Amino acid sequence: MRQLIAGNWKMNGLTEQAAAIAGPLRRGADGLGCDLLVCPPATMIGTVAHILVGSAVAVGGQDCHAKASGAHTGDISAVMLRDSGANWVILGHSERRSDHGESDATVRAKVLAARAAGLAPIVCVGETEAQRVAGAAEQVVGGQLAGSLSDGFADGAAPGVVAYEPVWAIGTGRTATEADVAAMHAHIRATLTALLGPAGARVRILYGGSVKPDNAAGLLAVPEVGGALVGGASLNAADFLAIARAAR
Ligand code: 13P
Repeated sequence: MRQLIAGNWKMNGLTEQAAAIAGPLRRGADGLGCDLLVCPPATMIGTVAHILVGSAVAVGGQDCHAKASGAHTGDISAVMLRDSGANWVILGHSERRSDHGESDATVRAKVLAARAAGLAPIVCVGETEAQRVAGAAEQVVGGQLAGSLSDGFADGAAPGVVAYEPVWAIGTGRTATEADVAAMHAHIRATLTALLGPAGARVRILYGGSVKPDNAAGLLAVPEVGGALVGGASLNAADFLAIARAAR
């Protein structure tokens, strides 16, 4: 399975910056041995999708509502993301779980909406530092997977993806050790197989949390690491492409 290198721009990127990142990505993506995805803020999806049309770089959203339309001021549905040029959507990122109180059940409803709209979901899971210190990391991540994934998650030509992002590694410059990543990804794979049966083997498991050009090769070589979900370093096209070149 090709690795997926996905960029989560979070709440960053005005028109000029989006073009400055997407243009070089379009030129740099040819011949890479991995899949590339960028997830700009919703306001930039149309612009970025237009720049990247026909290229090897896919576009995704960072969240969607569980319903397709209706009286939900300020929200954006999966169908709308699809309509603006997205084929992917990040769901259940820890920043949404903490900033917006999203539960596993909310994430699951969004996964179903994404699948119904033809979007491939990237479901984020990960423990806090206190949970890791307490020895509960695997239990927390297993519970998030059981609560967030739906039947059909791994179906179709674009199966869903899981991103393991330890909360304490996000934006901190700290990463999990390669041994901890290997152990957690093996646990996630076993959980996916228990939840989804043989289809669980089709799910790529990304690592996220302070992935940079200088640590990408080591992290991407860990068994069961199916790619990376990159925050800060995805805002610089050269850094993002350097991470992609480290992929298998
Ligand atoms: P950083 O790469 O900035 O740590 O962010 C990781 C992340 O949250 C990606 O979704």
